[in-house]
Amino acid sequence: MRIGVDYYPEHWDKALWQQDADLMAKTGVKLVRLAEFAWCRMEPREGEFTFDWLDEAVDIFASRGIGVVLCTPTSCPPLWLYEKYPSAVQTGKDGRRIATGIRGHRCMNDPDFLRLAGRMIDEMTRHYAGNPSIIAWQIDNELEANFCFCERCIGKYRAWLKEKYSTVEAMNKAYGNVVWSGEYSSWEQVQPPFGSYPQAWLNPAFMLDFNRYASQSTIAYSDWQAEILRRNCPGRPVTTNTWFCENMPDFYGMFKGLDFLSYDNYPTTSAPDDPEALYTHAFHLDLMRGVKRQPFWIMEQLSGGMGCWLPMARMPEPGMIKGYGLQAFAHGADTVVFFRWRTAAIGAEMHWHGLIDHSNVPGRRFREFAELCSLAQSLEDVQGAANKADAAILFSFENEYAFKLQPQTHGYYYMEQIQRLHVAFTRLGLNVDIIGQHEDLSGYRIVAAPEMYVTDAGVVQRLHDFAAQGGTVILTTRSGVKDENNNCIVAPLPTVYRDMAGAYVTEYNPIGGDTVEVRFADGTLCRGKQWCDVMQAETAEVIASYASEYFAGSPAILRNTYGQGTVYYIATVGKQELYDHLIRSVVESAGVPFAEGLPPQVELTTRTGKDTEYRFIFNNANRYQRFRLNGEEIALAPFEMKITSHGKNIS
Ligand code: GAL
Repeated sequence: MRIGVDYYPEHWDKALWQQDADLMAKTGVKLVRLAEFAWCRMEPREGEFTFDWLDEAVDIFASRGIGVVLCTPTSCPPLWLYEKYPSAVQTGKDGRRIATGIRGHRCMNDPDFLRLAGRMIDEMTRHYAGNPSIIAWQIDNELEANFCFCERCIGKYRAWLKEKYSTVEAMNKAYGNVVWSGEYSSWEQVQPPFGSYPQAWLNPAFMLDFNRYASQSTIAYSDWQAEILRRNCPGRPVTTNTWFCENMPDFYGMFKGLDFLSYDNYPTTSAPDDPEALYTHAFHLDLMRGVKRQPFWIMEQLSGGMGCWLPMARMPEPGMIKGYGLQAFAHGADTVVFFRWRTAAIGAEMHWHGLIDHSNVPGRRFREFAELCSLAQSLEDVQGAANKADAAILFSFENEYAFKLQPQTHGYYYMEQIQRLHVAFTRLGLNVDIIGQHEDLSGYRIVAAPEMYVTDAGVVQRLHDFAAQGGTVILTTRSGVKDENNNCIVAPLPTVYRDMAGAYVTEYNPIGGDTVEVRFADGTLCRGKQWCDVMQAETAEVIASYASEYFAGSPAILRNTYGQGTVYYIATVGKQELYDHLIRSVVESAGVPFAEGLPPQVELTTRTGKDTEYRFIFNNANRYQRFRLNGEEIALAPFEMKITSHGKNIS
């Protein structure tokens, strides 16, 4: 396991570089990430490249045994570029170029930008190709799906549609454009979703396609950069740092072309009082590990209180810096890079805290960080070890986009059921993979496929095969609703999954902010909310029924035998208690071993290497927790991680 830091030599006086590098080396920092926003210092005038300052910084780190991750600085072109080539700036929804002075505002399709960015990357990579201290490359910074509305991007969008549909008539049919007289007679009539009217007025089929295009446009940009990096710097792994943002590109597509995934991890510093609040960073980590189904990196890790575009948040509590770093390891990260070594004293982010505060005196958080660094060195063998999982949850960007376009009911959002299922599995101490819906399912015993809303024939088939061959599948409400174009399928829900579910929906009721009672056959009473499918069982047995509303007595959770396997259908959006109760019995019936006695917010994960098996037990709560786990007495301080290997304590 390796620990690194994000460092900005261009923000600091040179005298500090040596001092910082010395302290890093002494603390056990193994790598630094540099230069993602430093284009103006590497090409101060068009065509004039100067890497001297960066060479000096790289050498300072290299001479202390610290590796360097270099970044392409393309998220932040310099002002001279925008002045000379104004079309390099993105165009917003209002059809106007956005203001400069920020970052991430370049148009990924503008030919001048691409020419100059390509040259910058080419110069930079050729300059550093022979330098063995460069251990990896990061592309750009936190790439988002391309929502630029300039003429060039509109042209690209039309070309994408033409490629997909060949004829305008085929596109009209796929979108159902006859509604509101929206039929096109030429490609030139197609406009992206501009304008100030609410998005909900736009055609959902058209909008899903626009989201697909916007994602693919970003992926093409990332692939283009990766190609230059690999050509000029062979043998050096390439990544980009991703996060959960407003317009997410499809991570599965984006990281297909990259060597490893890296994620920016900023867990909250204030634990919510409400036990129902979704307080689980493990979910994000498991989702990120599942993107490439291999160990990943954290490229930016919480180091201090967050602030800047938000009012400042609480400082990490004692235990969080070390604990959250170890939590990332426990869920499959091999390298954790902290954002940032120093708190910026200049620029918009001066209130987003690093490890060292403005006081310039390393304090409480730094001391914890130092402890983590020394512990990480004793965990070197964990590198590459896998989180082997019996249970998987499927995730899809098609569904993420489609649900965002058409919120189903008050309070409903796609990720919630996925997270609640994840929490329920996690409470039983299972490793859980969250994987793309197109992944191969072999090797799993249980696959939860929540809200399979936009239908993909291959995915439907794979789930049928998995169940038929003996797997356990968990389906939920809002499955089989849309065809691949995001139009409604005209058949009783869950349409393509009806045979697996052994039941169908006679009517549904979006109850929004209200709750409904659900009683299990064993008498346990739980609550559902937001959505209720009123079900008719066919071959399925009823394991829980509604206990309130006019449909009281009708099935709320069903279990069906399908081929050699078992399929569950959850007809409402449960409160956490419902998933906890259900998943325990699902796991028991599937014969998957689980842990007895884990209190809420304690996570148990394992990583298995060639000859090693590590067990991680993490108290993700700001209180002491004492419990018996499968008979073993365990006590954990707030945010404490206990690591054992073959029964031997490591921390
Ligand atoms: C990330 C970004 C960093 C920095 C950080 C804290 O999203 O990649 O450059 O802005 O947030 O604000």
